[in-house]
Amino acid sequence: MMPEQPLLIVDQLSLATKAKETLVNKVSFTLNPGESLGLVGESGSGKSLTLRAILGLLPQGVELNDGTIKSGAEAAMVFQDPRGALDPLCPVVKQVAEVVHYRQRLSRRASRAAALELLQLLGLPDSLAQADRYPSQLSGGQCQRIVIAMALACKPGILLCDEPTTALDVTVQRQIIETITKLQKELGFAMVFVTHNLAIAAALCSRLAVMKQGEIVEHGDALEILQHPEHPYTRMLIEAVLPVPQLEGSGPS
Ligand SMILES: Nc1ncnc2c1ncn2[C@@H]1O[C@H](COP(=O)(O)OP(=O)(O)OP(=O)(O)O)[C@@H](O)[C@H]1O
Ligand SMILES: [Mg+2]
Repeated sequence: MMPEQPLLIVDQLSLATKAKETLVNKVSFTLNPGESLGLVGESGSGKSLTLRAILGLLPQGVELNDGTIKSGAEAAMVFQDPRGALDPLCPVVKQVAEVVHYRQRLSRRASRAAALELLQLLGLPDSLAQADRYPSQLSGGQCQRIVIAMALACKPGILLCDEPTTALDVTVQRQIIETITKLQKELGFAMVFVTHNLAIAAALCSRLAVMKQGEIVEHGDALEILQHPEHPYTRMLIEAVLPVPQLEGSGPS
């Protein structure tokens, strides 16, 4: 059998400021169809910039210095701050429907129906639609689910998640992670999941890449890295989250 073609190949990606200060240095990884890769590392290590490079949406002042990104599928991103990613003046169902309308080219009426289906898929209550709620009337966890729905409305082959649960309490964190795991099984997208929490990354992803100061310092099978971390920084991250919470599938159903 032919080996599986990667869906995404990031090869020697280097990003720098206009003044040529290196921000991301020779980052390389691949992503197979349906696979999930956890990108872990401290604040400022270059995780968000790497995702933005894959999305083709670098922030102002940051340039591609070197390297290539080859993607065989469309990517959509769940941004770091859910409330900031939503329009405060537009009802949430309408925001999801707009994405469906433009990305799936459905009529307004069909887009609203598709948006409501997405909300249901994400476990959001029907009352959100009936009352046409605004982002300020939703909890943080509900906003995050709306933002995930908007990303999924693009029908992405690759879902880029930038710390989607950092701002949430641990119970809601767990619910969102269970939802993402369920959706990935149902919809089959590949995923790059950014977090600074190694335990969350290991629960969600079969492979991990550990970033520090713009570089990948360790990269491999998630369990292998947890059991035999090679880089001192990875060891420190593991110590920071021990005891490792129950992994996927072992929690209450
Ligand atoms: N628009 C920008 N212009 C200049 N430097 C930037 C810009 N955006 C980010 N940086 C710098 O690039 C580095 C990596 O930033 P990035 O946002 O990727 O970090 P991160 O790993 O996502 O951190 P966090 O966990 O805090 O979100 C940081 O040093 C940051 O200051
Ligand atoms: Mg970030």
